[in-house]
Amino acid sequence: MPALVSHPDEVRVLSKRFGQGATDIDKYIELDGYKAVQLGIANGPQWIIDTMKASGLRGRGGAGFPTGLKWSFVPKNDKAKYVLVNGDESEPGTCKDHVIFLHDPHSVIEGTMIAGLAIGAKMGFIYLRGEYRYLLKIMEKAVADAYAKGYLGKNIFGSGIDFDVITQTGAGAYEVGEESALMESLEGKRGVPRIKPPFPAVVGLYGGPTVINNAETIASAPPILLMGGEAYAKLGSERNGGTRLFGISGHVERPGVYELPMGYNLKKAIYDVAGGIKNGKKLKAVVPGGSSCPVLLPEEIDVGLDFDQMGKAGTMLGSGGIVVLDESVSIVEFALRTINFYQHESCGWCIPCREGTDWIKKTLTRVHAGGGNKKDVDNVQYLAENMLGRTFCPLGDAAAMPTIAFVKKFRKEFEEYIEGKRVEHPLIAIKPLG
Ligand code: NAI
Repeated sequence: MPALVSHPDEVRVLSKRFGQGATDIDKYIELDGYKAVQLGIANGPQWIIDTMKASGLRGRGGAGFPTGLKWSFVPKNDKAKYVLVNGDESEPGTCKDHVIFLHDPHSVIEGTMIAGLAIGAKMGFIYLRGEYRYLLKIMEKAVADAYAKGYLGKNIFGSGIDFDVITQTGAGAYEVGEESALMESLEGKRGVPRIKPPFPAVVGLYGGPTVINNAETIASAPPILLMGGEAYAKLGSERNGGTRLFGISGHVERPGVYELPMGYNLKKAIYDVAGGIKNGKKLKAVVPGGSSCPVLLPEEIDVGLDFDQMGKAGTMLGSGGIVVLDESVSIVEFALRTINFYQHESCGWCIPCREGTDWIKKTLTRVHAGGGNKKDVDNVQYLAENMLGRTFCPLGDAAAMPTIAFVKKFRKEFEEYIEGKRVEHPLIAIKPLG
């Protein structure tokens, strides 16, 4: 089990049970577990939705859509409805749902039940990425323990409401983290995206209205009901309620997953919380929220970590995976590794993504190997800009956005490779993944 990190600036809402043995259901109960769902039963669906709206919680998968609003979109008809927990955490640099499954699996189950109560669903699915099979064992045990206590199944907490939870893993495809591809996968089909609208809240899993939330979003529901929506909102910044798990990795002294208030300063997160740049080296760049986000230069990191402030800074809060790069990093190599990932993970469903990622990868491979020509940098930028907004799902954007930023902000470095001035990483073969 990876060592837990901590820092005095952390506000432990989601992580308060980490390292406390809360995979054991009795420990979870001792530490306020399964109280929130009973509060939800007592106060009813509208109270749950109002509380979630008041909390200002925005989707922690990366898009930042307001959770209470999403839940309120579910039509009040008698169709079978579902809750689907997206634990297909695959964005490079992101490892926050991982620690929730590892340390506090019941919070995901309880959050699923709360979402179910809010929308009138009788069934929830918890979907983990294929590479999290070892965490599936933890989740499966937690679900079995909840059934054994009578918390799941028929007549939960004597409410007359039935609620079942099913766990599932993927087979190792980044694409199924996209919510509609996730539903296809869960239905046993090839994991490719569906056209939206209709949004899953209206037509989702098996055609029924479905709330799909990231695992961290779902695990935030129990503490929100317990502390009240307004109190939770106050922990964060304007329009960005609460706290969030940030995974800080790369060239920092103390990498790890830290729970910080929304709006916390990115520079402070790197220099104070994560202990600054490793071995006294200089900072070169920061990928602030997972590999899809445009890279920031050192002079751009004095910014609050919330959806709005990061947007104003020309990047995204994304999935909270902060990747710190020191002066030793070749941005050309980093850009190549990034596009290599997206090219490999493109589902191939739509042409701009399938061909665009492949073409950029081929061009950057040539540049990186010292065989590029002068037009290559412009071509890479042109290709990426023409993918933006033209693909079936956000994977194409996720590949294009960082590529554009790398080329724009580090153009000189790409040119140095082309001019043969920069060959300190000669012929590193970027092997196909998997
Ligand atoms: P999106 O903005 O299209 O949708 C966000 C959510 O809001 C979805 O659940 C969608 O169904 C819902 N929604 C939006 N408009 C709606 C409406 N009018 N009615 C009902 N529901 C509505 O974003 P998407 O495609 O779900 O996610 C993209 C994000 O995912 C990126 O920002 C990226 O940061 C993140 N991401 C996260 C990864 C991870 O491993 N956590 C991996 C890859 C990307």
